[in-house]
Amino acid sequence: MKILVTGITGQLGFDVMREIELRNRTSIDNGGEALFEAVGATRKEMPLDAPDKIDSYIESVRPDAIINCAAYTAVDKAEDEPELAETINAKAPGVIARAAHDIGARLIHISTDYVFPGEGDDFYEVSDETGPRNAYGISKLDGERAVREATNRHFIVRISWVFGINGKNFIRTMLNLAKTHDSLTVVNDQIGSPTYTADLASLLIDMVQTEKYGTYHATNEGVCSWYDLACEVFRVRGLDVNVTPVPSSEYQTKATRPKNSRLSKKSLDDADFRRLPRWQYAVERYLEELKAIGE
Ligand SMILES: NC(=O)c1ccc[n+]([C@@H]2O[C@H](COP(=O)([O-])OP(=O)(O)OC[C@H]3O[C@@H](n4cnc5c(N)ncnc54)[C@H](OP(=O)(O)O)[C@@H]3O)[C@@H](O)[C@H]2O)c1
Repeated sequence: MKILVTGITGQLGFDVMREIELRNRTSIDNGGEALFEAVGATRKEMPLDAPDKIDSYIESVRPDAIINCAAYTAVDKAEDEPELAETINAKAPGVIARAAHDIGARLIHISTDYVFPGEGDDFYEVSDETGPRNAYGISKLDGERAVREATNRHFIVRISWVFGINGKNFIRTMLNLAKTHDSLTVVNDQIGSPTYTADLASLLIDMVQTEKYGTYHATNEGVCSWYDLACEVFRVRGLDVNVTPVPSSEYQTKATRPKNSRLSKKSLDDADFRRLPRWQYAVERYLEELKAIGE
């Protein structure tokens, strides 16, 4: 199976490429053959801000599947440049999906909890009403719509609070702040689930080998606040940082953040996909991964 992966210089795309390599190695070590041919695209081959260049590239690669991990992910900056966010997160995925349809390829497209309004404290089901509260969320929801319209062979996977070895994220920010601060304030009224890209990549590679198309939510199991996540990171690392919980009103950001990012995993269960491990176990393994590279 030939898989085209976009966004390989980001957190998720990097780990999807690693997962494919791992599966190939495991198969070969067990006397079999490589299962996948991976083609990784950067913005040079597939510039999502210039969607007219995408078609011919996909046509030249002719993959059996595309995993679109590239996106405009600067949530606050998107408030200032919503058109660019819309081009990269909605228009380009529409072009990718149409190209995938034309060559009969499957498409996994990654979306976000930000498509929901983020109110109340219920878990969002995949079919619940959307209602993004910021420009990034609007662009990602438009991307979902463009993908659904263009091809039936799609998996739309909504994730949240992402962390991985190849990029910036909340956990790295906390570790860096701990180098210079004895005490920190962290928001405790936004509740959601962290997603470790190494765990998610494994699910995506399982998924892409099936035809169980549809919309899914996939995060590590369990919910927490950013405050809980920071405390867990410092606990595991044995760092003596005094963390004070504060409401979002005391930590103003340009883009409004959802308070409720609880995503139900019923869709994974119904399709017989395995859920990801609990978030504390993901954090523990991520911190080990960071330690191995001296962080
Ligand atoms: N990060 C989160 O907390 C979070 C939460 C929910 C959902 N998601 C979704 O999860 C997916 C993966 O996120 P991530 O955290 O892995 O993102 P990331 O680390 O920010 O990486 C984004 C990737 O997209 C590429 N990209 C950006 N603009 C591009 C353009 N114009 N043309 C081509 N490529 C472009 C980047 O390439 P360069 O390196 O060249 O810039 C990079 O490889 C995205 O769909 C995102 O919306 C993320």
